[in-house]
Amino acid sequence: MRVSKAGRLVVLVSGSGTNLQALLDASADPSYGARVVAVGADRDGIEGLARAERAHIPTFVEKLGDYATRAEWDAAIAARIAEYEPDLVVSAGFMKILGQPTLNAFPVLNTHPALLPSFPGAHGVRDALAHGVKVTGCTVILADEGVDSGPIIAQEAVPVLPDDDETVLHERIKTVERRLLVDIVGRMVREGWTVSGRIVRIGNETGGEST
Ligand code: GRF
Repeated sequence: MRVSKAGRLVVLVSGSGTNLQALLDASADPSYGARVVAVGADRDGIEGLARAERAHIPTFVEKLGDYATRAEWDAAIAARIAEYEPDLVVSAGFMKILGQPTLNAFPVLNTHPALLPSFPGAHGVRDALAHGVKVTGCTVILADEGVDSGPIIAQEAVPVLPDDDETVLHERIKTVERRLLVDIVGRMVREGWTVSGRIVRIGNETGGEST
């Protein structure tokens, strides 16, 4: 898939929105090739929405609890996203699994604070720490209907240090995660990408062959 003109991003958030902020900051430079056209959330009163408002980006909120069924919420959030005609949807700390109405309509990126397939789910940092790993990291994936199970686009390792607690380790990961997410989103919109089974290639990447 290839995006012409500045790629339109809808970013979904549930919390502090520092990944969103990194995308907003990057897209201030027209050469980045993408801009945030809307920010969606599954709850009110979060810093992620405040960041969007300060940047004069339209926002929307769809709460799961406002719908009788998950299927109705799936359809509602897909419709809200569709209003902004995104080239890419970026789930950046959005704590919900998106359903087929969104996944069938748009490519969706998800960022996760662990080296998938290890430690998927809502507590990737805590779980990695509890397991005693010495290296963890972050992963950008193409979202599918599973929990952090989609094809991997990019990963970067982050060391676990002896005195780390969850907060300290997560902050170290997020510093790397924001840079990786900004880099990958920009490259995808500028260079295009292909998906073959579980293998995602950006632009003319040829994979791991030596030259
Ligand atoms: C990120 O580490 C994301 O991977 C995880 O939650 C964090 C969100 O951070 N799911 P922020 O809201 O972008 O600051």
